[in-house]
Amino acid sequence: MHEYASAAGSVRALDDVSLAVAEGEFVSLVGPSGCGKTTLLRAAAGLLPSKPASLRVFGRSPDEARADRTMGLVTQDPGLLPWRSVADNVALTSEVTGSRVDVAALLARVGIERFAAFHPGELSGGMRQRVALARALAHRPRLLLMDEPFGALDELSREDLRLELLRIWERDRVSVLFVTHSIREAVLLSDRVVVMSPSPGRIVADVRVDLPRPRFLAMESEPAFAALVSVVRAALGGARPVGLSA
Ligand SMILES: Nc1ncnc2c1ncn2[C@@H]1O[C@H](COP(=O)(O)OP(=O)(O)OP(=O)(O)O)[C@@H](O)[C@H]1O
Ligand SMILES: [Mg+2]
Repeated sequence: MHEYASAAGSVRALDDVSLAVAEGEFVSLVGPSGCGKTTLLRAAAGLLPSKPASLRVFGRSPDEARADRTMGLVTQDPGLLPWRSVADNVALTSEVTGSRVDVAALLARVGIERFAAFHPGELSGGMRQRVALARALAHRPRLLLMDEPFGALDELSREDLRLELLRIWERDRVSVLFVTHSIREAVLLSDRVVVMSPSPGRIVADVRVDLPRPRFLAMESEPAFAALVSVVRAALGGARPVGLSA
């Protein structure tokens, strides 16, 4: 459970949420706006003042996991430093920690090796998100926490980045907890789609996606895909799907 205290009173953001992501598993989290998805991700990343004792990242507390970079976090806002080049943004955490990362290889993995010397202001939104992804991957995280990472992008960039993320995940088998407002995106990417209720968020459904891997965009037109989208949408039905789109 997590409560926020604010001038307007306290808000209970999460209520008895129990969620486990297996090693190498891709889990998406969907739910109406304000249900607590970001709160849950921030709790897992160790970024909230209250630290539930039951929260474990590969057997350790989020703080311990964060300290040795077991987790990578990507949010809707790429949060790049505008005065540093792409390469220097990706290298930033290693400068702080004194570790070494192969920046050129990381940029190649997310398809922006040609832009190493560019500055964030010279990139498109999709390219900036690729830089943020490269930065999150720099320390070979075992868990990637992603909060609507493609939410601010146009549909075509979004599709590109979905596929890019799938290919990276298929190769590295990093565990992923992925928040999205798109039911179709959740089904296309995930092994499981977890559905939350309106605030205070609870888990109301946990839908296994048994589509074959590797996944392709063309699968979206298959009946099995449509059936899964319907199941998730039905679970959200009771959950007032404000701002949700397929
Ligand atoms: N820093 C904060 N201080 C006080 N209340 C907060 C804070 N951050 C979030 N909340 C409240 O906690 C609840 C859950 O918010 P959260 O951001 O986790 O929702 P969400 O599911 O991520 O929504 P969205 O889909 O719109 O991103 C909301 O009622 C929100 O008002
Ligand atoms: Mg959010």
